[in-house]
Amino acid sequence: MHDREPLENLTRAEPSVDGRQAGRQPAHVIVVGNQKGGVGKSTTALHIIVTLLRQGRQVASVDLDAHQWSLSRYFSNRTASTAKAGIKLPLPEHWRIWPSLADSRQAAEIEERTYFQQLLDDLSRRCEFIVLDCAGGDQYLSRLAHSHADTLVTPLNDSFIDFDLLARFDGQSGVVGGPSVYAEFVWECRKQRASAGGKAIDWVVLRNRLSHTDAHDKRRVGAGLTALSKRIGFRIAPGLSERVIYRELFPHGLTMLDVHEFPGRGGLRMSDLAARQEVRAMITALALPPADGA
Ligand SMILES: Nc1ncnc2c1ncn2[C@@H]1O[C@H](COP(=O)(O)OP(=O)(O)OP(=O)(O)O)[C@@H](O)[C@H]1O
Ligand SMILES: [Mg+2]
Repeated sequence: MHDREPLENLTRAEPSVDGRQAGRQPAHVIVVGNQKGGVGKSTTALHIIVTLLRQGRQVASVDLDAHQWSLSRYFSNRTASTAKAGIKLPLPEHWRIWPSLADSRQAAEIEERTYFQQLLDDLSRRCEFIVLDCAGGDQYLSRLAHSHADTLVTPLNDSFIDFDLLARFDGQSGVVGGPSVYAEFVWECRKQRASAGGKAIDWVVLRNRLSHTDAHDKRRVGAGLTALSKRIGFRIAPGLSERVIYRELFPHGLTMLDVHEFPGRGGLRMSDLAARQEVRAMITALALPPADGA
């Protein structure tokens, strides 16, 4: 493994496919992004990937967060824990993209864009879905990803702090002001995509970890999001609720959809069933393209 290779195939699983047939649609690109950190992007990306794999779909994943590599660590943990337990769980073809080390910003952007485009073109020929997990903040790789999204998934914790990245909000009057930093960022990416002839981005904002918020705030954030969704063009869907299990699964690289296959944990608990149900509801709400011929 080269330390600073811009591209690295981390968990190249034995391909779940031999390659897509000629004439089939290019891959559907799902980008999980939010400039806010710690909102559940990587956890959401993992659950989307594993759900699709379990539906028999051909999925590649790309980790763009060189600062943490959380999604990549999920898959390393998954590989290690399943090997130890002697079981087999589905894995995507997984890649990471490092930021360029070029001296000038312009050269770095060219290098990143070239690698990014090559990788997406290649994966697009072989997979049905490409899921990209973005870092928080405003980085060029994240911009590139957003402007290639067919579906953009933005997990948002139900709090005014997170809402603030989408729109200005007057806490006294409850009035929603103009779009703020992340909404502007998505707007720019939408424009770039449109000028490159791409189809419109289906932007889905997921309300995550709802139980954290008290009922009054929940209603106010909900009303603010509804008002904003019409103005700046996104759909609102239920995300994952606050559950300790989502944190506990990380060291094992498991999702809610795998826990029953893992030895030593016992059968499914009521809370597991509820969590699996919310994962399924989230995926259904994304309204992803069905399998060819389905
Ligand atoms: N629904 C949830 N319930 C409980 N814990 C959660 C939930 N979603 C995420 N977490 C935990 O919150 C932390 C942050 O989640 P995650 O890494 O998915 O967020 P992120 O947006 O990818 O963060 P970053 O911006 O740092 O990449 C992790 O410890 C994760 O296990
Ligand atoms: Mg992350």
